[in-house]
Amino acid sequence: MPPVSIANKPIVWILGGPGSGKGTQCEKIIAKYGFTHLSTGDLLRAEVKSGSDRAKNLTAIMEQGQLVPNDVVLDLLKEAMEARAAKANGFLIDGYPREKSQGIEFEKAIAPVTVIIYFEASCDTLTKRLLGRALSSGRADDNEETIKLRLKTFLDNNQQVLDQYPDKLRRINAEQGVDAIFAEVEQILDPITSGAAVAAAN
Ligand code: AP5
Repeated sequence: MPPVSIANKPIVWILGGPGSGKGTQCEKIIAKYGFTHLSTGDLLRAEVKSGSDRAKNLTAIMEQGQLVPNDVVLDLLKEAMEARAAKANGFLIDGYPREKSQGIEFEKAIAPVTVIIYFEASCDTLTKRLLGRALSSGRADDNEETIKLRLKTFLDNNQQVLDQYPDKLRRINAEQGVDAIFAEVEQILDPITSGAAVAAAN
């Protein structure tokens, strides 16, 4: 059983291809709703920086645009959620699950997801955005070769993830501008938060 402090709070999974705007929209969601934001990509990059035993091999996997082993990601997420549970009024899980079994394992080990938001955009749009971001991001995986591999990994796994949650999945056209996308996000999140702006809990 999950700790009560996690189980009673909304859990939102944010899905979408590389460069679909997950991080961009999460910033706006945090500002309005104050959810605790956990990006698996950010958690993994922090783990790499820490030089821990667990971090060994992660850099190579991420530079090849592949998924790191499920147990590593789930452990990091679970630890981060538990550490923040007391203050959190909801969790925004950004970039997870990326593969079918990740979702199953999360719900078994942590708690059921409340709603899933999927940002949908073409590979052409995703590539253009990432190449634009590459000019300033300094990220080791923002280069043309790795972007192709990240897209392939995404396309190989995404449909199976989406198919698993027909009732909780909400799709948003992520080809739109940032504010138009956020207006659709609000229509999804307002009902589960009673539309109230809440104090930031991060
Ligand atoms: P991660 O860090 O999650 O990378 P990603 O999924 O590839 O997504 P990004 O962070 O690159 O893009 P984003 O969707 O957040 O877009 P952003 O808002 O920045 O993961 C990195 C790696 O970690 C993975 O490849 C994998 O190896 C590993 N990993 C992570 N999670 C894992 C998991 N669960 N299991 C196993 N391995 C995992 O926007 C991109 C650009 O577009 C920006 O420049 C932005 O300004 C611009 N932009 C955003 N929205 C718009 C818009 N509407 N219109 C125009 N431009 C826009």
